[in-house]
Amino acid sequence: MDTAGVAVIGSGLIGRSWAMVFAAGGFKVKLYDIEQQQLTSALENIRKQIKELEKTGFLKGDLSAEQQLSLISICTDLKAAVEGATFIQECTPEDLELKKKIFGQLDLIVDDNVILSSSTSCLLPSKLFTGLKHVKQCIVSHPVNPPYFVPLVEIVPHPETDPSAVERTYALMKKIGQSPVKLNREVEGFVLNRLQYAVISEAWRLVDEGVISPTDLDLVMSDGLGMRYAFIGPLETMHLNAEGACCNISPFPLH
Ligand code: NAI
Repeated sequence: MDTAGVAVIGSGLIGRSWAMVFAAGGFKVKLYDIEQQQLTSALENIRKQIKELEKTGFLKGDLSAEQQLSLISICTDLKAAVEGATFIQECTPEDLELKKKIFGQLDLIVDDNVILSSSTSCLLPSKLFTGLKHVKQCIVSHPVNPPYFVPLVEIVPHPETDPSAVERTYALMKKIGQSPVKLNREVEGFVLNRLQYAVISEAWRLVDEGVISPTDLDLVMSDGLGMRYAFIGPLETMHLNAEGACCNISPFPLH
């Protein structure tokens, strides 16, 4: 077990899943929320899920269900929640003003070593963290729902984030079995959603132009392209294609 602690701020869908991922990695987790009822139900739900995962053989990590559960505690006092934590993962609703308020509160009580990380799906680090005293320790670690089963985490720095905070976050994500990727700078939609928007907009266009029915369009992804992309990405696909076959049919200039 790791003696270091992690604080998870917000015990909804994503906060619960992060708590399970960190506990599976052997970290002590303090789960914080403003709603006591929400915390109680989160803990019950986590217990049920972890027990079920153990029973079905899908529990992550080397620890038993009971050992993992013993690492997770709940808390409605923010200061107590973050005390002793080396990493704080914020998972509150996707509301810029609310998140800024929370990071402002955290900024006043944390030391110079802890990493302040947000689960935000689309708020840019420059919007979330600018002006904070501890901005060098701030980062976005964007998970994919549900983080327990989908390992990707997009690590997005603020322009002032210290490179060591990026490296520490990357190493931590690896340690708990996630699959981190580093963005060199912030960009609207990060990378996963930019790729997703490109696919969705082309899907709309093909259906709108009457090329294919909506049902068949979805089959192209679920029974074709999606199966390939579950194993290799678009760049590796192009690399493996004979004589760059994709390039020959692309209407776009390729650089
Ligand atoms: P949720 O609505 O399920 O949970 C939010 C939790 O935050 C609730 O338990 C609520 O009581 C708590 N909360 C509200 N105000 C708070 C405060 N001041 N301090 C502490 N806790 C507070 O939201 P969900 O779906 O878990 O999303 C959390 C974050 O994760 C969002 O930023 C979202 O964009 C991001 N995210 C969500 C994904 C999804 O598919 N749901 C996927 C990836 C990221």
